[in-house]
Amino acid sequence: MSSINYSEKIPNNVDLANDRTLQRALEHWQPHFLQWWHEMGPTDFESADVYLRTATSVDAQGWAHYGAVHMPDYRWGIFLADPVAERTIGFGDAMGQPVWQQVPGEYRSTLRRLIVTQGDTEPASVEQQRMLGHTCPSLYDLRNLFQVNVEEGRHLWAMVYLLHAYFGRDGREEAEELLARHSGDADKPRILSTFNEPMRDWLSFFCFTYFTDRDGKYQLKSFAESAFDPLSRTCRFMLTEEAHHMFVGETGISRVVKRTLEVMKEIGSDDPARVRAKGAVDLQTLQKYLNFWCSSSLDLFGSEISSNSAANFASGMKGRPDETQYEDHVLRNKNMKLMTPEGEQDVPMLNALNEVMRESYLKDCEIGLKRWNRVIERAGHALRLTLPSSRFRRSIGPWAGVPVTPDGRQISKEEYERNLRGWIPSQEDQAFIGSLMHKVVEPGKMAGWIAPPERGINNLPVEYEYVHLH
Ligand SMILES: [Fe+2]
Ligand SMILES: [Fe+2]
Repeated sequence: MSSINYSEKIPNNVDLANDRTLQRALEHWQPHFLQWWHEMGPTDFESADVYLRTATSVDAQGWAHYGAVHMPDYRWGIFLADPVAERTIGFGDAMGQPVWQQVPGEYRSTLRRLIVTQGDTEPASVEQQRMLGHTCPSLYDLRNLFQVNVEEGRHLWAMVYLLHAYFGRDGREEAEELLARHSGDADKPRILSTFNEPMRDWLSFFCFTYFTDRDGKYQLKSFAESAFDPLSRTCRFMLTEEAHHMFVGETGISRVVKRTLEVMKEIGSDDPARVRAKGAVDLQTLQKYLNFWCSSSLDLFGSEISSNSAANFASGMKGRPDETQYEDHVLRNKNMKLMTPEGEQDVPMLNALNEVMRESYLKDCEIGLKRWNRVIERAGHALRLTLPSSRFRRSIGPWAGVPVTPDGRQISKEEYERNLRGWIPSQEDQAFIGSLMHKVVEPGKMAGWIAPPERGINNLPVEYEYVHLH
């Protein structure tokens, strides 16, 4: 079951050859996808040989197979984790019943919406990142960008497979729409606002892969618990790929911090202006980028109080990440206290699950900050990087539009507006970061604002020519 058939037009481990209708429908979508990749994927690198990882099976031996590939020839396919024998529903009112191999009629439109919303983020991020290749800080980083891009493309395939296989005509229409919306498009934007934010520089890319891909991890983990078994299996395999995206973010920011500390030591000063004059990212500006992408990503979990989250959980459609770690899987008799601008509210736990997820996400986000701060501390500096309060700069939920400082204090609208440019990247900050972005493509060389990685990809040296440009 786990090995992938690469002799077919669409590599897959779902026995596509034995479902001619589905195969035809997906083969019809495939050229549309490739056209989209050509038009909206990484610009100007179609003839480059990129050292990429491709899955050849979904088990530990085969899922990371490396070799030089032209991106348009990447074998995007349909890979599901192996089924779990006699799997039962692990939470909600139907807990203990067999999982669903088909979509129950009453949940059809909700499940479709959940899958479309997840699917929409995948091509959106490729669109956001499409210009970054032109300012890569090294070949190593260029390769990682493209690895992330092709895998987001594959994640789109993962969701499109579910739409085609289980949602009939509506599903096929949704699959077309996934290629018709575009990040930042005035008429047909992507569904979620983080995925319409422009990504102008690599500092944003590292923050995005740290915070936004981590939101992706949490969404995939909650779908991995789903009673809809094909969705669960799809997301379980996607999670293996997603880990690398967060690695790119975490190590990217680590390397920025490391380089900044080197420069601070060299000039014997932590004055941001002097750090900038030496071509490094001052830690104050990095903090602003963290504030921006973290607060934007926090909205992706939805409102603190949500009847949708209650219905999705009770029905078995969407669980909590790592559902087994909890004791109560039904949550009919539990409440949670939530702070809103109007004061504390006692909310049925089922309606507070977005917040439960957001809290465990923030805990996961803390891990990188601890690591970066340890390095800063060891270098003898007092500054600490922090996560913004989950009430800061929110656009969704009870804190939407409420003026709150990054450390969570409610203030006046005037004070908020006056100070915002000190909390998130101002135009001047963006222009400065933009001024650091120059393409470095000599094997082993790094741009001056970032330290080299500790090791290369797949045990190769850092100097390896990860992308061969023609
Ligand atoms: Fe993804
Ligand atoms: Fe990702």
